[in-house]
Amino acid sequence: MAQIFPRWTNHVPTALALALPVAGLSLIFGVWYWFSPKFTDVGYAPEQPVPFSHALHAGQLGMDCRYCHNTVERAAHAAVPPSQTCMNCHATVRTDSAVLAPVRESAATDSAIPWVRVHMLPDYAYFDHSPHLAAGVGCATCHGRIDEMTIVQQAQPLSMSWCLDCHRNPTPNLRPRDQITNMGWDATTAQYDPHADPTRTRELAPPQNCSGCHR
Ligand code: HEC
Ligand code: HEC
Ligand code: HEC
Ligand code: HEC
Ligand code: HEC
Repeated sequence: MAQIFPRWTNHVPTALALALPVAGLSLIFGVWYWFSPKFTDVGYAPEQPVPFSHALHAGQLGMDCRYCHNTVERAAHAAVPPSQTCMNCHATVRTDSAVLAPVRESAATDSAIPWVRVHMLPDYAYFDHSPHLAAGVGCATCHGRIDEMTIVQQAQPLSMSWCLDCHRNPTPNLRPRDQITNMGWDATTAQYDPHADPTRTRELAPPQNCSGCHR
């Protein structure tokens, strides 16, 4: 009988049997590794339901972050403002703008705009804005130049090693507390020495033990 397949093909099933699981595992590893947050979160900039621009409002118009994120110094979370806050201006500014229609409707019906979350830690990690701001860590240190972003984009990995890098040596990341929302504050030119700041009364001790952040 004529041989249809050359002899070496006898090994193909065995080779496949060995290679496929390896390929499968590599794929799983690859997906797990490269798509895990450390590698995908930086640069994450989802489309928002309303094209709200920080570059315009916080940059050009110079609005302070706390005008809108008004809970950030008191609470764990920095509240995203209700549409009423927008209407403080947009009841009179650009009242005919089509892109602002969802804002007007949301304010009129008292329903929230479905803003898409950009920064998000897993549930098992505990983070609270207020002690960071009280310690004099600026928004820009963790969020980058929001005042230059048309669409908010994640600037830092928010990974455990990122948190710990600062917790081990916070001093270079500290600024005077009245500068926390100043996007242009520059540590190298300001030459701020926290230890010489009379408003600081205690040595900071950011947690490095597991239970500090995994409660
Ligand atoms: C006029 C109101 C307003 C001002 C002022 C403002 N923001 Fe926002 N901010 C918003 C709204 C609305 C969103 C949600 C939509 C979006 O992500 O663009 C948001 C989203 C964000 C987010 C992303 C939240 C998430 O989902 O992870 C960050 C970070 C942020 N703002 C930081 C800042 C900083 C820092 C400043 C000051 C430089 C600032 N904002 C000033 C209204 C404002
Ligand atoms: C020490 C780092 C750090 C600083 C400083 C910081 N943030 Fe954040 N921010 C985060 C992290 C981490 C998250 C994600 C929190 C979560 O998922 O629980 C976040 C989330 C947010 C959000 C989304 C809503 C929320 O709270 O989950 C907004 C809005 C925001 N930050 C605004 C600000 C503003 C405005 C400032 C300055 C006044 C600021 N942040 C300072 C790290 C920081
Ligand atoms: C302090 C006043 C003020 C507040 C508060 C404010 N805005 Fe604005 N907004 C402006 C001004 C001024 C403009 C620019 C108008 C122009 O270009 O003529 C603008 C422009 C816009 C535009 C572009 C409109 C267009 O037709 O292109 C959007 C979208 C917008 N704002 C959304 C928001 C949202 C969402 C909020 C609330 C989170 C908000 N604004 C809060 C003053 C404000
Ligand atoms: C740029 C510096 C910096 C970064 C980044 C940072 N921290 Fe902190 N953290 C501090 C400082 C400073 C304190 C204040 C310590 C004090 O008051 O003694 C602090 C305090 C804390 C505390 C104790 C206060 C409390 O709420 O109980 C926790 C928990 C914490 N950080 C979690 C985190 C987590 C989680 C991350 C990463 C997502 C993070 N931090 C990123 C500087 C930082
Ligand atoms: C300063 C805050 C902080 C401290 C201290 C800390 N963690 Fe984490 N940890 C985090 C954050 C934030 C994440 C989430 C990281 C992410 O989403 O990429 C995390 C994630 C993890 C994960 C999930 C796997 C991973 O790497 O993403 C494990 C496991 C973990 N931590 C264990 C520990 C152990 C064990 C300790 C003590 C030796 C510890 N952590 C101390 C903040 C902290």
